[in-house]
Amino acid sequence: MLIRHKRRSDVASSEITPEGVYLNRRKFIQTSGLIAGSMMLGGPAAEAAVMPGAGKKFADVKPGFSKLGENDTPAPLDAVVTYNNFYEFGTNKSDPADNAGPFKPLPWTVKVDGMCAKPGEIGFEDLIKPHALEERIYRMRCVEAWSMVIPWVGFPLGDLIKRFEPLGSAKYIRFETVVRPTEMVGQRSRNILPWPYVEGLRLDEAMHPLAIMAVGLYGQPLLGQNGAPIRLVVPWKYGFKGIKSIVRISFTDIEPKNTWQIMIPGEYGFYANVNPKVDHPRWTQGSERRIGGSGLSALLEPRRPTLMFNGYEEEVAQLYSGMDLRRNY
Ligand code: MTE
Repeated sequence: MLIRHKRRSDVASSEITPEGVYLNRRKFIQTSGLIAGSMMLGGPAAEAAVMPGAGKKFADVKPGFSKLGENDTPAPLDAVVTYNNFYEFGTNKSDPADNAGPFKPLPWTVKVDGMCAKPGEIGFEDLIKPHALEERIYRMRCVEAWSMVIPWVGFPLGDLIKRFEPLGSAKYIRFETVVRPTEMVGQRSRNILPWPYVEGLRLDEAMHPLAIMAVGLYGQPLLGQNGAPIRLVVPWKYGFKGIKSIVRISFTDIEPKNTWQIMIPGEYGFYANVNPKVDHPRWTQGSERRIGGSGLSALLEPRRPTLMFNGYEEEVAQLYSGMDLRRNY
């Protein structure tokens, strides 16, 4: 998303993690940003935690909704944690993994405000404690026309929302990413994006059971590069809606503008539903390259057709009945 003008459904991830997935251990230690404190193992145990498959895992993650097609193979862990978009750490795909080392995701607090009966500040542990964690293996389709299948660990966003009791007048939800220029090298430049990164959903979209707050992937806590400690995942929308490292949630009656809409209004809109029939000015949306599917480098991956609502049409289309979907990137 560089700004050129300005300069199989019920399979658990433990069963599909490809054998031999291997991360360069040193690099992983440098870049992991693994959740500290109670979830972080210290000393020698921390070294064990860097080996995929041998790392600290969430206990008791139940299989949740995952609707995979025959060719939807989850990307190997090393692809999921090294091919990222997280401009707070730089604009190249490898920058987030290379630069997330100094980022400390715990302790973490999320502020909830706006049109709700129970606003307040809530610590990460209290935020997730009441929720049963589920594995949701979702396709993620980036507007840049690549995609990945990722086994997230999380819980429904709607269940979180209910705890704050939004008022009847609240129609939208807005999210903000943390601003920590000392830990996030990309934030030291305002030429990249105006910080904080912001995103929004209509409240009924946010309440849809497929929208989740993710706290992990492949059974393990999120790494810095993937949005530790908590991020949004909305599988029927382009990946940029999946705001990372959330510190603020606000209920509002005004449609929130998202970061990319503010930056390039002619290219990005509020809804950003995956739609193969509506091309982005810079990327055709009719097909996509699947990262990590074949082991080839991203640009060599064969293209495959993009599905309406990223393959979740049956589940979410009713949210948009009566809407003109011809220009909704
Ligand atoms: N959230 C923040 N705060 N900053 C970002 O740059 N990039 C978005 C989204 N969330 C981004 C963000 C984009 S463009 C995509 S495609 C996804 O994160 C990528 O998520 P992943 O790197 O975990 O695969």
